[in-house]
Amino acid sequence: MNSTETNQNARSVASTQSEMTEIILPNDTNTLGNLLGGRLMHFIDLTGAMAAYRHTRTHIVTASMDHIDFIQPVHVGDLLILKSSVNRAFTTSLEVGVKVWVENTQAASMLHVASAYLVFVAIDEQGRRQKIPQLLPETPNELRRYADALLRREHREAESARRKQERLAHADHNDPLPAGR
Ligand SMILES: CC(C)(COP(=O)(O)OP(=O)(O)OC[C@H]1O[C@@H](n2cnc3c(N)ncnc32)[C@H](O)[C@@H]1OP(=O)(O)O)[C@@H](O)C(=O)NCCC(=O)NCCS
Repeated sequence: MNSTETNQNARSVASTQSEMTEIILPNDTNTLGNLLGGRLMHFIDLTGAMAAYRHTRTHIVTASMDHIDFIQPVHVGDLLILKSSVNRAFTTSLEVGVKVWVENTQAASMLHVASAYLVFVAIDEQGRRQKIPQLLPETPNELRRYADALLRREHREAESARRKQERLAHADHNDPLPAGR
């Protein structure tokens, strides 16, 4: 791919921005009426995928979701607001940032609930990986996220290699789970 083609195909961050709002219903919650962590992760995955689709315009799979802190509980009847955009595109993968807020409908308050970074990989109908367009960051915040995404990728690769070693060390199926798991 030459640089002219690259720039012609490049996408802006704004063109990937996505948003989803969900009302939290009893089926989404635990016995105390608080949103289940797994359900929140599902909403994060979906909102992240929307930004990734808008960038790649092809099939994608989730390769990873980084560490998430659940900062605030979300209660039945609250509105959950999720926003996503692409931080950086690599060769066949891209990093998406998702930020989540809860809106209490009675108090009209808005609180930050969680943030997450996800990596999606573009594939075709046969599951073969696809090259994706580049991302053109423009604003200072977009440029900062673009630079940070590369550092996170390096960190993920190092962690992934470490976990692979750990898996190999515990590959014997008669061996119990590794200590601390
Ligand atoms: C994600 C997947 C396609 C990667 O396949 P792979 O053969 O390991 O791919 P490669 O090592 O060639 O890497 C391909 C790209 O994915 C990235 N990648 C692979 N595994 C990754 C991981 N765990 N975290 C982040 N990025 C990852 C690589 O960095 C590479 O990016 P680049 O092309 O932009 O440089 C494959 O592991 C897979 O299909 N996993 C299951 C996905 C799935 O079912 N998700 C849930 C349902 S959607």
